[in-house]
Amino acid sequence: MSINLDGKVAVITGAARGIGAELARDFVQRGAKVLLTDIAEEAGKATAAALGDNAAFAQQDVSDEAGWPGVFDQCEAHFGKADILINNAGIEVTSFITECKLDEFRKLLDVNVGGVFLGIKHGMQRMSAANGGKGGAILNLSSMSHVIAGACFGPYGATKSAVDKLTKVAAVEAGLLDAKIRVNCLYPGIIDTGMQDKLGQDLLNLGLFPDAQALQEYIIGRTPLKRTGTPEDVAKAAAYLCSDEAEFITGVGMSVDGGMALG
Ligand SMILES: NC(=O)c1ccc[n+]([C@@H]2O[C@H](COP(=O)([O-])OP(=O)(O)OC[C@H]3O[C@@H](n4cnc5c(N)ncnc54)[C@H](O)[C@@H]3O)[C@@H](O)[C@H]2O)c1
Repeated sequence: MSINLDGKVAVITGAARGIGAELARDFVQRGAKVLLTDIAEEAGKATAAALGDNAAFAQQDVSDEAGWPGVFDQCEAHFGKADILINNAGIEVTSFITECKLDEFRKLLDVNVGGVFLGIKHGMQRMSAANGGKGGAILNLSSMSHVIAGACFGPYGATKSAVDKLTKVAAVEAGLLDAKIRVNCLYPGIIDTGMQDKLGQDLLNLGLFPDAQALQEYIIGRTPLKRTGTPEDVAKAAAYLCSDEAEFITGVGMSVDGGMALG
């Protein structure tokens, strides 16, 4: 099944690099128009420019509510509407709960939970049938850290569990509001991006693994599909959940982890 996104317009946050950049590339290739947003302006502009006329960039800090209406204004100005919102922007802290500074935890909450909360809130308002839109789809990036209880992923995992809860309640509320918006989330596992490079280094610095090879062997040994994931793996799942092929699917979390969370 080849997923087609012809005619769709998507807002993708945190799209300057990593998974978000690949989501944008993949969606454009499947026929969508994409407004990429990111706090990193120069990198975001460059990523969008490389995708041609079907992509544009808007600078945004997802944790700042004042910026959200303008993001949808810009999307509508460029591409006439918005059908899809992917709340992808996120940050990561690898730390034992006992070692995590309250400020670090608050920052995680602000970006990973606050950003998704605001995206759902404003996305629902702007895309809902009641507001004159035709409805659409919201996809949130949770994490395998929601599914499993991994040491050093308490603060980060707590934010990703909150994303899971926001997803499921938003799916229910969209029904009550007759918004015609499907809301789903993904639980990516170990996906090769800059965030994952930092996380691996953090685990080594914390002394949980003697070296990079031992960490890699641990990961592969626990993963039924015997490899780490790529942003392309995440994009394929995202394209499906945001497409009309998934028209009867809402309120689900889909693992993209090669089976690693199964234990
Ligand atoms: N890489 C993984 O293994 C993995 C696994 C599970 C979940 N995830 C989730 O997937 C998403 C993308 O992860 P990634 O690996 O591509 O990360 P990344 O660090 O490579 O990219 C994240 C992007 O978000 C942007 N960003 C950070 N704070 C922002 C803010 N306040 N406002 C707007 N943009 C902001 C960054 O500038 C960056 O471009 C995150 O939500 C992450 O938690 C990643």
